[in-house]
Parts: sequence; C-alpha cells; structure tokens
Amino acid sequence: MISIRNCQISDLLAMQNANLTCLPENYQYKYYLYHVLTWPQLSFVAEDESGKLVGYVLSKIDENNPKRGHITSLAVLRSQRKLGIATKLMKQSQYALMEVFEADHVSLHVRKSNRAAFTLYHEILKFKIQEIETEYYGDKEDAYSMVFNFREEDNKNEKKDTKSTAAADNKPKGQPAAKPKPASAKKKAAAKKK
Ligand SMILES: CC(C)(COP(=O)(O)OP(=O)(O)OC[C@H]1O[C@@H](n2cnc3c(N)ncnc32)[C@H](O)[C@@H]1OP(=O)(O)O)[C@@H](O)C(=O)NCCC(=O)NCCS
Repeated sequence: MISIRNCQISDLLAMQNANLTCLPENYQYKYYLYHVLTWPQLSFVAEDESGKLVGYVLSKIDENNPKRGHITSLAVLRSQRKLGIATKLMKQSQYALMEVFEADHVSLHVRKSNRAAFTLYHEILKFKIQEIETEYYGDKEDAYSMVFNFREEDNKNEKKDTKSTAAADNKPKGQPAAKPKPASAKKKAAAKKK
C-alpha cells in the first residue's frame, strides 16, 4: 500500500535522489530545505509499506505573489507509475495551497515533449495552458506554462473534487486545524528554473 504524507526534512535526501533518477531539472539540497522550512504544509511524499519514498511533490508560494502557488517539481519512481500516485500528490498540494495559504491559483512548467506529465496536468487536473515559454529549459526545450485557478467558475467541480478527495482519502494526519500564515519568503535569487 502506498501512503501520502507531508514531507519532512528527513525525506529530503530520498526526494533529491528520486528527482535525480526521474528528471533532468535537479536542485541543490538547500533548495529542497528552503521549500520545506518555508512552506512545510505544501510538499508531500508517497511511500510504500517499507517506508521507501516512491514519489514526491515539491511546492511553494510565489515569492512575489502570496496568492500564487507553484509546483516546483513532481516525480514518481518508474516502478510505481500509472497507479494514481502523482494525481494524489498534486491534489494534496492543491488542497493545502487553498486551505492553508488561501491561494487563488497554482502554476507550473512542463516540457512540451513530456506527454505523461502534460496529460496529467491538462486532462486529469484541468490545468490550462497560459503560454509557451520558448527555450525555457537549459537544453532549450520549450515549456508550457500552465495554471489552475482555484476561484474560476469553470473549476467549481474540480475544486470540489480536489477538496473532497483530499478530505476523504488523503488529508494529512496530525495537521494543525488552524491556518498558519506563511513564513515570510526570502527571495531565492539563486533558485533554478524547473
Ligand atoms: C508524470 C508522472 C509524475 C506521472 O506520475 P503517475 O503517478 O504515473 O501519474 P498518475 O498515475 O497519477 O496518472 C494520472 C494520469 O496522467 C496521465 N498519464 C500518466 N502517465 C502517462 C503516460 N505515460 N502517458 C500518457 N498519459 C499518462 C494519464 O491520463 C493518467 O491517468 P490514467 O492512468 O487513468 O490513464 C510520472 O510519469 C513521472 O514521474 N515522470 C517523470 C518525472 C516528470 O516528468 N515529472 C513532471 C515534471 S513537470
């Protein structure tokens, strides 16, 4: 059985390893730490029965816009794909963005060639394409800049689904009922592009 829970500092090395295995966009350990220390409610891991990390979502609040969430990175180990894990991780993070930070919307970037992730975001999670960012990635591939608006009338059903799914299946255990304010986010000048 796979369980989803909030990310802790002790998960970060395994998260970084999963990222190195699954994606060409890699980050220094301190960048993971920055996320988890600044927005501890927003990042989640999926683990198997033995406690091995099999997936993660690393999320944050835009340093320049407190109402804008951003998915920095998402990955599921190859052996565990197509089981709905990424969908659950994303819904958990969206739920926390709405409930804890009262975000209006959440953004992300995805490579134009990344069919699996694009289909997940566009078809399943109903993100919309905002623009194509030419040569966004280090190897000059274009990115779809995508956004999901929590407030849009169109998204009412998705929002309900997101809330009810998270509430019923995935709500992190032991989370405080209060809505903590985000710690003041220091500008991450060195933050690399996803
Ligand atoms: C993209 C990724 C995170 C999806 O993880 P996952 O746990 O397999 O995703 P889910 O099982 O929740 O899939 C949900 C839906 O996404 C779509 N999807 C997932 N994998 C797909 C694939 N290989 N091809 C086409 N669509 C795919 C499907 O619509 C799927 O629904 P279905 O299973 O009912 O067909 C995973 O493939 C991955 O880690 N890839 C490498 C890292 C990466 O690309 N991260 C995203 C960077 S922006």
